[in-house]
Amino acid sequence: MAFEPAEWPRKLRSQEWYGGSTKDVIYHRGWLKNQGYPDDLFDGRPVIGVLNTWSDLTPCNGHLRELAEKVKAGIWEAGGFPVEVPVFSASENTFRPTAMMFRNLAAMSIEEQIRGQPIDGCVLMVGCDKTTPSLLMAAASCDLPSIVVTGGPMLNGWFQGERVGAGTHLWRFSEAVKAGEMTQDEFLDAEAAVTRSSGTCNTMGTASSMASMSEALGMALSGNAAIPAVDSRRRVMAQLSGRRIVQMVKDDLKPSDILTKQAFENAIRCNGAVGGSTNTVVHLLAIAGRTGVEVTLDDWDRCGRDVATILNLQPSGKYLMEEFFYAGGLPVVLKRLGEADKLHRDALTVSGETIWDEVKDAKNWNEDVILPADKPLTAQGGIAVLKGNLAPKGAVLKPSAASKHLMQHRGRAVVFEDIDDYKAKINDDALDIDETCIMVLKNCGPKGYPGMAEVGNMGLPPKVLKKGIKDMIRISDARMSGTAYGTVILHTSPEAAAGGPLAVVRNGDMIEVDVAARRLHLDISDAELAERLSAWKPSHDVPDSGYAWLHQQHVQGADTGADLEFLKGCRGAPVGKDAH
Ligand code: FES
Repeated sequence: MAFEPAEWPRKLRSQEWYGGSTKDVIYHRGWLKNQGYPDDLFDGRPVIGVLNTWSDLTPCNGHLRELAEKVKAGIWEAGGFPVEVPVFSASENTFRPTAMMFRNLAAMSIEEQIRGQPIDGCVLMVGCDKTTPSLLMAAASCDLPSIVVTGGPMLNGWFQGERVGAGTHLWRFSEAVKAGEMTQDEFLDAEAAVTRSSGTCNTMGTASSMASMSEALGMALSGNAAIPAVDSRRRVMAQLSGRRIVQMVKDDLKPSDILTKQAFENAIRCNGAVGGSTNTVVHLLAIAGRTGVEVTLDDWDRCGRDVATILNLQPSGKYLMEEFFYAGGLPVVLKRLGEADKLHRDALTVSGETIWDEVKDAKNWNEDVILPADKPLTAQGGIAVLKGNLAPKGAVLKPSAASKHLMQHRGRAVVFEDIDDYKAKINDDALDIDETCIMVLKNCGPKGYPGMAEVGNMGLPPKVLKKGIKDMIRISDARMSGTAYGTVILHTSPEAAAGGPLAVVRNGDMIEVDVAARRLHLDISDAELAERLSAWKPSHDVPDSGYAWLHQQHVQGADTGADLEFLKGCRGAPVGKDAH
C-alpha cells in the first residue's frame, strides 16, 4: 500500500500549547520548564506521549517504568521531546469484578488524555491483557501517530521438572487438587514457579495474543511480540520504537493508515495460526469499531476457517513464549501465512514498510515450536463462530484448545443461573451431572456480570474429575482466560442479561453442538422458545450509580466488541479551546 509521507517541517498540534509568546503559551511552556527543559525543546519538534500502564498493582507491567527510559532515549536520539504520561492500568489479576469492565473506561480516559494534552504522537506501553486493547482503542479514536511497545512475556516457569505456563497451570493444578492428583502444599509451592520473572503471561494467553495482534495489525515493530520482558533485546526494541515514533509524526503516519480491513484480516488469520485467545475477538472488534472499518464475527469465521495452528505453545500445545522467541517469533508465522496466500502482503506497518517486507526473510530455528505446514497442531485453528437458536448473534469456540471428541455432541443441559449459583452447586456430589452433560452458565456477559468475566471455562465437578475426565462442553455468555483450555463455548450473544435465548435454557433441555457445521441449537420448538422468552424477566444485578451503571447502560454485545456505544468511532484530536 503506497503511503505518501507528509511534508516536514510543518506546524504540529503541540505548538498550540508551546509555540509563540502569548500569555497562554508562556503559561504552558513556563510551567513545564520547572522540570529544567531548555528553550530549544519547544521549537516545534515532535512531542511524544509515552503512555505508560506501569502500576505496582499491574504486576505484568511492573517493569514498564524502567522500559520507558529506553523509549525516551530513542525519542531524544531522533530529535523528539518525550513526555511520560501514566494512564489507566487495569490488571487482569487484580481488578474486581473483572478488568474487562474497565477496558472501556481506560480507553475513554486515555483518549481524552491524548486529545487534551500537547501530544503529537504516542508510544503505547502495554502488556497485561486489557492494557493493549484499551490503548489501541484510544489511539484509534484520536488517530495521532502511535506505536505499540509491549512489555514482553515472563521467562519460562518450571515446577517439578516440568515447563509450567502462567495461568494455564494454575487452572490445571487447581483441577488436579480437586481430582486428588496433587496436594494443596504442592499447589502452594507452584505459586511463584509459574510467574518467575517480570513480564506478561508466558503462554499464548490474551497478553501474548494481543501482542501478536499488535504486530500482525502493523501497529508494532516487527519482532516485538515474543521478546521476553527481561531479555536485553526487549530494551533495544523499546529504544528503536522511540526513534521510530518521531519519524512517524514527521511523516504523519497514523493508525487510520495502518488499521485497514486488510490489517484486521491479517490479524484474524494470525490469531488462528498462533492458537490465540478468544479474547482477541472482542478486542479486535472493539478496535475496529473505533476506526470505522467494518469487522464482524462473520469475518472471524471466514478468515479463520482454513488457518492451521502452527505454533506449539500452551495452552493448546507444549512450549512457552520464550521458546517462540528463540524459534524466530511472530515474523516466522506471518511469513508462513504469506507463503500460504493468507496474508495481505501490502498492508502497511508502523515501520513505513509493508508487512511482507518486514517478514519475508524470517527464519524458523525450531520446527518443534513453529511446526511445519504438514504437521500443524490443529488443521482448523481459527476461532469458530457458532450460530443457532441458542446464539442468534453468534458464540465463539477455540478449536485448538478443545477436545476433538466433543466437537459434535448432543447433551443434557445442567444450568447455573449465575456464577454464584455455579459456585454453590459445583462441588456437591448430589448435583445431577456426568461427562455427557453440557454445563450452561448465564448472566456473565457484558451487562450481566457486569463486565463479561473470564469464568466461561468453569471447572468441572469433582465427581467427574475423579473419573479422570478432563473436559466437558461448557456454554456461557462469559469470556475465558486466554491461558485456559477446553471445549468452551463463549460470548453467546445476545447475552442472558439482555434477554438472549441463553437466559431461558432449563435443566434437562437437550443442546446440540456441531462445530464443523457451526451450529449451536437448543432442542425445543420455536413456539416453546418464544413462550419462554416472552415470560423472561431479568435477574442480574443492576448498579444504580457510578461507572458500573454507565457501563451497564451503554455496553454493547460481545458480538460487536462490548464497547460503550457512545465511544465507537474516530473523533480525531482537535486541539480545543484554551481556558487560560
Ligand atoms: Fe497480566 Fe496474564 S495476568 S498478562
